[in-house]
Amino acid sequence: MSLKVAPSVIAGDQAELGREVRAIDAAGADLIHLDVMDGHFVPNLTLGPGIVKDLRPHTHLPFDCHLMLADPGRYVETFARAGADRMAVHVEIPGIGDVLRAIRALGKMAGLVINPGTPVAAMEPHLGDIDFALVMTVHPGFYGQTLIPEALDKVPLLRQTLRALGRDVPIQVDGGVTVDNVIQVVRAGADEVVAGAAVFKAPDYRVAIQALRDPVAGA
Ligand code: DX5
Ligand code: ZN
Repeated sequence: MSLKVAPSVIAGDQAELGREVRAIDAAGADLIHLDVMDGHFVPNLTLGPGIVKDLRPHTHLPFDCHLMLADPGRYVETFARAGADRMAVHVEIPGIGDVLRAIRALGKMAGLVINPGTPVAAMEPHLGDIDFALVMTVHPGFYGQTLIPEALDKVPLLRQTLRALGRDVPIQVDGGVTVDNVIQVVRAGADEVVAGAAVFKAPDYRVAIQALRDPVAGA
């Protein structure tokens, strides 16, 4: 299975999001990663469902919405209606099991996200209710940070835990992934990577996306 690349549009030109989405689609992205931040769960503010809805006609690629919200359950239906195909919510939020089940009940893929400071054990009770897992390798809030190696170490442990439960779901890694460290990310067991700065701050999106996939052949 080849590595999937999900460029995160918060690293793109925020006044030109439609153009940016079309550009990464044309450049070979697998998913469009949309970071939704509420200024409470994380110390930053980004896009809301109105922007997701207006971006929807710009691509047929799946919308991978990473909801960094203090109360994600309040918004999953709105994001589903706006065009989200996948919604990832944080295990650090109380009552997240109900939110995961609500996402699936809406016919969307449910992802469970874990922050660098949270142990994998916190995910265990929910692993039967997910379609993918997301391991954060930076503290969420901002693109362009440096990958935290200890956070990446959780990927093999999570894979082991999933296998023990007979669950075969993709693991996504998000935060500080670059062409220089993607080989370690793949060796740790990632199926998908999110890439903000590594794609949008590169001179050529197609070359950047391909460069993230390339090291995989020799992994
Ligand atoms: C961080 C976001 C990430 C981030 C990725 O809060 O969830 O998706 O934007 O950007 P890079 O790849 O630049 O760390
Ligand atoms: Zn993200």
